[in-house]
Amino acid sequence: MKVQSTTTQQDDHFLISNYDYKSTNIEKNGDKYIAKPQTTNFKFKTDTRIPKLGVMLVGWGGNNGTTLTGGVLANKFNITWNSKRGTHQPNFYGSLTQSSVIKIGTCNTEEVFVPFKDILPMVNPCDIVFGGWDISAMNLADAMNRAQVVEYDLQQKLRPYLEKLVPLPSIYYPDFIAANQNDRADNVIPGNNKLEHLNVIRKNIADFKQLNNLDKVILLWTANTERFCVEDPNIHGNAEKLLKSIESSHPEISASTIFACAACLEGCSFINGSPQNTIVPGVIELAEKAGVFVAGDDFKTGQTKFKTCLVEYLVGAGIKPKAIISYNHLGNNDGKNLSQESCFKSKERSKKTCVDDILESNKVLYPTEEELNIDHTIVIKYCPETGDSKKAMDEYIAEIFLGGRQTFAVYNVCEDSLLAAPLIMDLLLLCELFERIQFSKDTSEFQRFDTVLSWLSYLMKAPKSESGITTINSLSRQRAMLENLVKVCAGLTIDDNLRLEVRYG
Ligand code: NAI
Repeated sequence: MKVQSTTTQQDDHFLISNYDYKSTNIEKNGDKYIAKPQTTNFKFKTDTRIPKLGVMLVGWGGNNGTTLTGGVLANKFNITWNSKRGTHQPNFYGSLTQSSVIKIGTCNTEEVFVPFKDILPMVNPCDIVFGGWDISAMNLADAMNRAQVVEYDLQQKLRPYLEKLVPLPSIYYPDFIAANQNDRADNVIPGNNKLEHLNVIRKNIADFKQLNNLDKVILLWTANTERFCVEDPNIHGNAEKLLKSIESSHPEISASTIFACAACLEGCSFINGSPQNTIVPGVIELAEKAGVFVAGDDFKTGQTKFKTCLVEYLVGAGIKPKAIISYNHLGNNDGKNLSQESCFKSKERSKKTCVDDILESNKVLYPTEEELNIDHTIVIKYCPETGDSKKAMDEYIAEIFLGGRQTFAVYNVCEDSLLAAPLIMDLLLLCELFERIQFSKDTSEFQRFDTVLSWLSYLMKAPKSESGITTINSLSRQRAMLENLVKVCAGLTIDDNLRLEVRYG
């Protein structure tokens, strides 16, 4: 695709697009609003050179880590496999960047769509070099077998590639994850000195980058859900205090925070795929100083994605959700870990906040704080027989016209890691792309996006935002935000869905 427009310029290295952003400034005057439309000029500069990307996964030997690595290799080497349903070809279904499309315009009256990945130059997932850590020493072929996610025939075909891949020893602070994980922790960096741990991880990153001749590396936490650390401004409040607390091996420094610090100190962006509060203020300051991004928290895969759609539909239709009761049972190692209350609490928090802003936006349905306090209950049970095929059962009770009730009972089989792996890939590919985009407002200098990469909120259950920026949970708004950003950067027109060119020529 090539954009021919007077508002875009392209040379060998950069694509610059000029964008008049239209917004509306609202002034409140008593109980009246005065709306003042305004236009601000932005320029977006995208470096079009695609780097050689390395990805280091924390929890590489887990269900997500093995499924992602194996799935990418299956695509890379075009490995087919058989099941009782026949022969299967590898694909990237479930990946926003690889398998969804974006409308770029109309040809006569016909709408034209192209793959998301073709709007701006992006890394091909098959070119990613994978590495990482796990507290379990199992090679990735055996770990994939342990995970029971991928079809047996594909496991066998991937074995020659995966058995060579062995996770690096990791940091293990048993107090932060469930006690039932202890029996797999046979690959840990010895000692209790957290500064030494940080330095080992930093060296691992530097060695991985050099050994594989990489242009850049991104770290992603897909290890067990930790309990929340007890956040304290004196321990985590800024970069200096955080590094001092690591030096003194403070007990409230989690393994995930050590990884996040190591990433920043090695000039790598860090993504937190679990719900715990890894990205404390000190991490954000370290990332800011290093000019890298942090993003989190908790992958938004099956149940929560659906929840943010359904609640948005109800509230958008003027129907008032009054209760959401969510049961999950799952039998994978994630479920086993979540069976400990402290780890469950982290998950409960991220699952619960995901509809807040959608409800808060509608003051007709929710005029008071009290009414916003709907029954939102989360139950998670570990049931080994279920394996990775997590079952999510949700009941939504909503108030309709004249005091009536509408109830939805939704049964959702979320093949956990088969949903998470393509989503993890999107997080990595988009994070990498956003590292190559800069913007300028009016005539200011070009600058990178804010350190906390909230552009990725579509992929996150509890999206972390820059301070002062409200979080958006609505799935359609999150997707539109991403779609519009890449279109604007490419110099394409944003779609307002009026379709006037089709209606009136
Ligand atoms: P898993 O339990 O199969 O894998 C986690 C891996 O992390 C294990 O191999 C474990 O040995 C390793 N590990 C634990 N502590 C570690 C440490 N300190 N350093 C290095 N490795 C460590 O779990 P799964 O299913 O792969 O999920 C991973 C994470 O992603 C969990 O926190 C889960 O809550 C989160 N998540 C998963 C979703 C999904 O749909 N699969 C959705 C949302 C979040």
